[in-house]
Amino acid sequence: MQTIHPESKIIIVWESIIVLVSLYNYLSIPFTIAFQTDADGIWLILDLLSDTVLIADIFLRFKIGYIDQGEFITDRQKIRKNYRSTDLKINLIASLPIDFIVRIFISPVPGYVIGIIRFPRLLRGFQCLGIFRRWENNVNVNPVVIRMINLVVTIFLIDHWVACLWFFIGEVAQISGESWLTNASLESARTSTQYLNSLYWSITTLTTVGYGDITPTNDLEIVFTLVIMFLGVSMYAFIIGNVASLIANLDANQGRFREKLDQIQAYMRERRIPAILQQQVRDYYQYMWEYSHDASMELDFLDELPHSIKTRIYLHLHQELLEKVPLFQDADKGFIEDLVIKLKPRILPPNDYIIREEQLGHEMYFIKRGEVIAFSEKTGRVYRTMTAGMFFGEIALLYSSRRTASVKTQTYCELFVLYKEDFDQVLENYPRFWEKIKEIAEQRFQTK
Ligand code: CMP
Repeated sequence: MQTIHPESKIIIVWESIIVLVSLYNYLSIPFTIAFQTDADGIWLILDLLSDTVLIADIFLRFKIGYIDQGEFITDRQKIRKNYRSTDLKINLIASLPIDFIVRIFISPVPGYVIGIIRFPRLLRGFQCLGIFRRWENNVNVNPVVIRMINLVVTIFLIDHWVACLWFFIGEVAQISGESWLTNASLESARTSTQYLNSLYWSITTLTTVGYGDITPTNDLEIVFTLVIMFLGVSMYAFIIGNVASLIANLDANQGRFREKLDQIQAYMRERRIPAILQQQVRDYYQYMWEYSHDASMELDFLDELPHSIKTRIYLHLHQELLEKVPLFQDADKGFIEDLVIKLKPRILPPNDYIIREEQLGHEMYFIKRGEVIAFSEKTGRVYRTMTAGMFFGEIALLYSSRRTASVKTQTYCELFVLYKEDFDQVLENYPRFWEKIKEIAEQRFQTK
């Protein structure tokens, strides 16, 4: 069997199963101990299923490689050594099926005994924390969503454990006299009713809502209630702070964009910019957001990256343009890589002049989206309508001459600009590109 990549889809599915199994243990273990359920029936089947998964996981881990300083390690020996020095011991302790051995020899065995024996299963929680951390770094999922799920599950588990403890204390107190269970006439109610009431108390006390219909009746219960109320106040302060920042980060880009737009609008109102112009500015940013998610904001960090990674990211970002421009289709790989990091995105609204005839030229443009026209300022004659995949502004750069025509946008346009110094550098290194672009420029010049 081949070594499995730790970030492959199958591992993500498998880790989800491990998280579900651990969740089951975190729910069932305190429940079986507090409510002293029957150890047979449905619990036996669920325990068996969950343990099978955990034991299978111990063996599967030997087949999963790991990432060390960005390198995928596939060497079996290294994997074994790494596993032995990390999770293996904990996983072994957490998966020993002692409860089944006890079930074979002692029958019937009370649920709480099984619950206590299964306590080490909770050690798998550490592995789940690691899994959540890995999911947060996963490329396809918004880390905020993972953190949100993590928070909700943790809150529910705390509520559940407190509910089980509250019921357990009620049961213990019942032996020596009065307890909240007798007070609420729940001592002989169905387990589900008892659990629901305990959970109801746990949530109302932890959230400090406290309706006061289920109340402590003896010292032990009062002390426990005090502790839980204290815990509740601290816990909910923590939760509210976390949820607020999580929601703010849910779409950090959109948040930043909104903030930027608010500032711009406030500025325009203060300076009494005419309403029509304000609308144009808003439309422009709206377009920017819809089509490029305001690329200007996100491109800043790219300059900090090493050249090779930066090039690969640009190749990905400009993939659509590279596919559209016929000139790039059979070009050298090196040429594309050199060119791609030099292209600067620019978004323009309709009816905007990009180039004015007779002026000096410092840059040329590639069209990713939209439509422009090249026309004569003097006669008004339209030389050509240009769309995605075409380029313009090359004549002035090639011949160091003035612009031969005016170029204006017809629609919103997404363009990529190539400045003269970058253009010259690329042409110097790749004469084939120079020949091709010159051929097109000459044709254009002749059809004027
Ligand atoms: P440049 O002269 O630098 O600036 C104006 C641009 O319009 C020019 O480069 C060409 O890219 C483009 N252009 C000029 N004439 C034509 C034409 N006849 N057909 C297509 N494009 C043209």
